[in-house]
Amino acid sequence: MQPGLRELIGPSALQTRILELAQAINEDYAGKDPLLVCVLNGAFMFTADLIRHLRIRTRIDFLSVSSYGAQTESSGVVAIRRDLTQSVAGEDVLVLEDIVDTGRTLEYLRRHLEAARPKSLRVCALLDKPSRREVQCDADYVGFSIANEFVVGYGLDFNQRYRELPAIYVLEQTES
Ligand code: XMP
Ligand code: MG
Repeated sequence: MQPGLRELIGPSALQTRILELAQAINEDYAGKDPLLVCVLNGAFMFTADLIRHLRIRTRIDFLSVSSYGAQTESSGVVAIRRDLTQSVAGEDVLVLEDIVDTGRTLEYLRRHLEAARPKSLRVCALLDKPSRREVQCDADYVGFSIANEFVVGYGLDFNQRYRELPAIYVLEQTES
């Protein structure tokens, strides 16, 4: 069995939607100075493209969580692997995530960040798989809602592979 790739969201559709997300963020945060939190590793490409369209003052920090094992099923256990370097106390925090699946990672992250008393906390996720939700935890901004399929590319990986692809692909098991 070899994994095959089927394109789900092409490069130009991605960029069009990311511009729309950035415009919504520019409006909602006009006059503010939000602290953007990029969730590594999956959101690095989304973050890089989104922030180029921002016209507000902003700062960026990074954190890393582990929620998945090597395969495509969540371990259900979430932990901070690398924490922020800046304080979020009193900040308008906007989390940038690659994908919301069961919702467990986001729920954990929201709790972790809320504990540090930000002024506000919102989440912008490029992708959302609403049919997979196990805990009621949604993003405030969503790029694309997708079906229950494992996707790679544009920062998302399978065993650390495919992150460099410029589009989102469904990972399919093919006979070979
Ligand atoms: P939960 O289930 O906690 O998972 O919402 C969120 C995290 O799981 C990863 N994830 C994926 N990664 N393709 C990926 O490459 C997928 O289809 C996928 N679904 C979930 C991802 O790291 C996300 O932050
Ligand atoms: Mg991953």
